[in-house]
Amino acid sequence: MKLHHIDLFLFSCTACLLLCAAAPIRAGIRPEAEALVNWKDSLAGADGSLGSWSLANSTSLCSWTHISCNSAGHVTRLDLSDISLNGTLDRFDCSAFPHLEKLTMSRNGLSGTIPEGIGNLTSLVRLDINNNMYLTGAIPRSIGQLKHLVELRLEDLGLDGTLPEEIGNMTSLEVLTVTSLALTGPIPLTIGMLLKLRELSLDNNNLTGSIPLEIGNMTKLQELSLRHNYLEGQLPGTLSHLIKLQGMYLSENQLGGHNVPELGNSSLLRTVDIHMNNFSGMFPSSICVGGALNYVTAAYNAFTGIHRQTFRNCTNLQYVVFTANNIVADLRDCFGEHSRQLEFLDLSNNALDGSLPKCFWDMPSLEFMDLSGNSFAGVVPFSRTCEHTLSYLHLANNHFTGTFPLALKKCKKLFTLDLGGNNFSGQRRISTMISYQQAIGQSFQTTIQNQDRGAVRLNDQVKEFIWSQSISAFWTYHLQESKSTNMNIIHHKNNQQETHI
Ligand SMILES: *[C@@H]1O[C@H](CO)[C@@H](O)[C@H](O)[C@H]1NC(C)=O
Ligand SMILES: *[C@@H]1O[C@H](CO)[C@@H](O)[C@H](O)[C@H]1NC(C)=O
Ligand SMILES: *[C@@H]1O[C@H](CO)[C@@H](O)[C@H](O)[C@H]1NC(C)=O
Ligand SMILES: *[C@@H]1O[C@H](CO)[C@@H](O)[C@H](O)[C@H]1NC(C)=O
Ligand SMILES: *[C@@H]1O[C@H](CO)[C@@H](O)[C@H](O)[C@H]1NC(C)=O
Ligand SMILES: *[C@@H]1O[C@H](CO)[C@@H](O)[C@H](O)[C@H]1NC(C)=O
Ligand SMILES: *[C@@H]1O[C@H](CO)[C@@H](O)[C@H](O)[C@H]1NC(C)=O
Ligand SMILES: *[C@@H]1O[C@H](CO)[C@@H](O)[C@H](O)[C@H]1NC(C)=O
Ligand SMILES: *[C@@H]1O[C@H](CO)[C@@H](O)[C@H](O)[C@H]1NC(C)=O
Ligand SMILES: *[C@@H]1O[C@H](CO)[C@@H](O)[C@H](O)[C@H]1NC(C)=O
Repeated sequence: MKLHHIDLFLFSCTACLLLCAAAPIRAGIRPEAEALVNWKDSLAGADGSLGSWSLANSTSLCSWTHISCNSAGHVTRLDLSDISLNGTLDRFDCSAFPHLEKLTMSRNGLSGTIPEGIGNLTSLVRLDINNNMYLTGAIPRSIGQLKHLVELRLEDLGLDGTLPEEIGNMTSLEVLTVTSLALTGPIPLTIGMLLKLRELSLDNNNLTGSIPLEIGNMTKLQELSLRHNYLEGQLPGTLSHLIKLQGMYLSENQLGGHNVPELGNSSLLRTVDIHMNNFSGMFPSSICVGGALNYVTAAYNAFTGIHRQTFRNCTNLQYVVFTANNIVADLRDCFGEHSRQLEFLDLSNNALDGSLPKCFWDMPSLEFMDLSGNSFAGVVPFSRTCEHTLSYLHLANNHFTGTFPLALKKCKKLFTLDLGGNNFSGQRRISTMISYQQAIGQSFQTTIQNQDRGAVRLNDQVKEFIWSQSISAFWTYHLQESKSTNMNIIHHKNNQQETHI
């Protein structure tokens, strides 16, 4: 008896659905078709793909191009990306689409402003308006009415004004990407109401003020990206509440703070980019607490140290850049046996001294190493692992002494070597080099193209090497192997310009 009831119920429900699909509610279709055609007529141009958009054809609205409907025949998706739209949104009647869930208009030539009416698209779940350079004006405050919006992407537009505080009313938001506009003013505190946010990106604006405390409310945040703004002041301590964070991108601001433990309280942290700020003190030792860290750049700050243990258990580390800080550190254990994945290491222009730890040479995946502009002294140790990967080695402007590091001849992939500004010495290496040449049977048919340009700071002995036939033959060998024609030995001048010899 009970079963029978359920059967009946299912049957009537299916019948209803079939009915609805077969005879869509006409009254619901007309305003949508009309609104689309009105807007289309207002456009100065589009590619040919809007041909089906015509009132004569309004009964088949749901098969018009770029449109998806629900079973009741209402427009739920409008995908208008990449169709060369030229015109404004002024006559886009937002109130005509109460069922619209997804609207994308990326990569077109829209101009004018985003209409205040956008707040009437109350079913909207996803809004993408990227790459419309001529779209100007402010983000309308009515956008806060989009209570169901899960994903908002406004990128590469001509918009300016501030980020409206109504943004905090969109409490369903999980992804908020408002990048490469010219927004000014502060990040509104209401942003802390977006408790579901997973991804927040406000890169490439002119935002000012500090990062609000309220950011710590977004405990689901996985990616925080505020690059290239004018944000200043200390990081809020609440940043350490973001224990789901995987990517933190704060580069190119004026953020500061002495010792910043709140940077590293997520064991899931994979990427940290804080270059070009004003951070100082010890680099936070908790940054790799979960061992997930893969990419870190803190270049151009004022850090003075890295704790010996910081990268010790960092088995996933691939990319490390600390150039241009004031780091004095004992890195004996820093990048050692655990750094099997490390490919890129740039510690140039710091205050590192002492002898070069052997472990720097025992990283089997290392392709790029720049330790120039420090105070390393002593001899360059012999590498056990450079043979198959090391391609770029910059040791210039240190106090290295001893014989020219002939051990480098084992590094078969090397095609950039910068040893200028050191104090290598000795004659013996030339003959060793020659015997090496003979051993590998290379011909001596080489020349070095350009003249010494004067700007290159080489001491006499190294210069002698470079101009000696044997050394140029040596480099030609590597050139041939790497098929590179313009990268031989590069010397830095003022950290920026490179002189190719
Ligand atoms: C858009 O249309 C206007 C008016 O027809 C025209 O001047 C302009 O060049 C067009 N813009 C683009 C990007 O095609
Ligand atoms: C009506 O729309 C359909 C589906 O897009 C299209 O195939 C047909 O050519 C259109 N008819 C007219 C008269 O535009
Ligand atoms: C939004 O819709 C309401 C009701 O349909 C209407 O009164 C209002 O003018 C619309 N707002 C805008 C800005 O279009
Ligand atoms: C939307 O945000 C504004 C400013 O933050 C606030 O005053 C208003 O009450 C909010 N409206 C709703 C419906 O939540
Ligand atoms: C944003 O900053 C850039 C660079 O400082 C400046 O050229 C531009 O005029 C600023 N835009 C606004 C809207 O303030
Ligand atoms: C957000 O954070 C602030 C300061 O940390 C707090 O006072 C406020 O209650 C939080 N708001 C919500 C909605 O959680
Ligand atoms: C860091 O995260 C842990 C959870 O992983 C949490 O218990 C702790 O309170 C956080 N520390 C701070 C300073 O917020
Ligand atoms: C950088 O931080 C120091 C203190 O650590 C401060 O004196 C200086 O003014 C800051 N510079 C900028 C540009 O914010
Ligand atoms: C590194 O790992 C070892 C063994 O897993 C552990 O004992 C040690 O505390 C870890 N060190 C750091 C700095 O995380
Ligand atoms: C370079 O080495 C020579 C001889 O080994 C020594 O006399 C000289 O002081 C050294 N120069 C520097 C700058 O270390």
